[in-house]
Amino acid sequence: MLFVPGDSERKFAKAAAIGADALILDLEDAVAPSMKVAARALVAELIAQNRTRDWAFFVRVNPFDTGMTFDDMAAVVKPGLDGLLIPKANGADDIARIAAELDRLEAATGMANGSVKIAVVATETPKAMFNLGSYTPPHPRLIALTWGAEDLAAAIGATANKEADGSWTFPYQVARTHCLYAAAAAEVAPLDTLYADFRDADGLEADCRRSRRDGFTGRIAIHPDQVAVINRCYAPSADEIAEAQKIVDAFAAQPDAGTLGIDGKMYDIPHLKAAQKTLASA
Ligand code: COA
Ligand code: MG
Repeated sequence: MLFVPGDSERKFAKAAAIGADALILDLEDAVAPSMKVAARALVAELIAQNRTRDWAFFVRVNPFDTGMTFDDMAAVVKPGLDGLLIPKANGADDIARIAAELDRLEAATGMANGSVKIAVVATETPKAMFNLGSYTPPHPRLIALTWGAEDLAAAIGATANKEADGSWTFPYQVARTHCLYAAAAAEVAPLDTLYADFRDADGLEADCRRSRRDGFTGRIAIHPDQVAVINRCYAPSADEIAEAQKIVDAFAAQPDAGTLGIDGKMYDIPHLKAAQKTLASA
């Protein structure tokens, strides 16, 4: 999902053909206070164009404490919008408020009820860290949880959130990990946070491989150059697909077996489930 500042028509034009699964037009932190109103109007106009596209149109609205959330929604919830990204959410209660407003706006604009999905930046406040379990059972609109370390660090008063080698310090590893568990519990997509150093393709690639290994299924991008790397890293490789197919086929051939030997290794139900997940994501 590629972030595009909501006040930049130039970047939007560039982003539309880059191969991202979704664009997130940002009305929040990428837009200066003086440009908030203009950005809202521009994004509303871009949605109204309702162009043919092979990516989902998301908007990150401003959080509740700004007082701008519902005005942002009134401007952008119209045919052509696929989803909202909710920043600085404190838990499922915030999502219920957003969803109730979506019910109202969808009815008013003639959109099918439930058509606008919700993704959440779930770790940006200290309070949010204690409410990650509240996303289960998931709201029907909820499709993804992601996490962020910058606002959380500012809220805590941390002087840094990274070690000298660039890895997250422990408080942010906790945020990342709990986001992963919260998304898995709610059965929605866990999306890893952005990789800020957008010139470092090798660093991004290594980080994406660790992330996918841990269970994240996708990632936020902030620069067009990151999209191809991310798409490649989170997609299963040809070898992984072949291996998964072999496992699924072996179990299909012996429907009463709970455990099997394949090429001298033991496979049981968790392996079958993992293989099915790999094939589904492929
Ligand atoms: N979407 C679309 N196009 C983008 C882009 C993005 N996210 N980021 C950069 N580009 C474009 C630039 O406009 C530039 O095109 P141009 O030469 O035709 O003007 C080209 O890609 C190369 O950009 P580059 O010079 O490498 O970067 P930059 O210094 O112009 O921009 C950022 C750097 C970080 C400001 C920019 O990548 C950006 O705005 N990212 C998104 C930030 C955001 O939305 N943050 C909120 C979530 S944390
Ligand atoms: Mg932020």
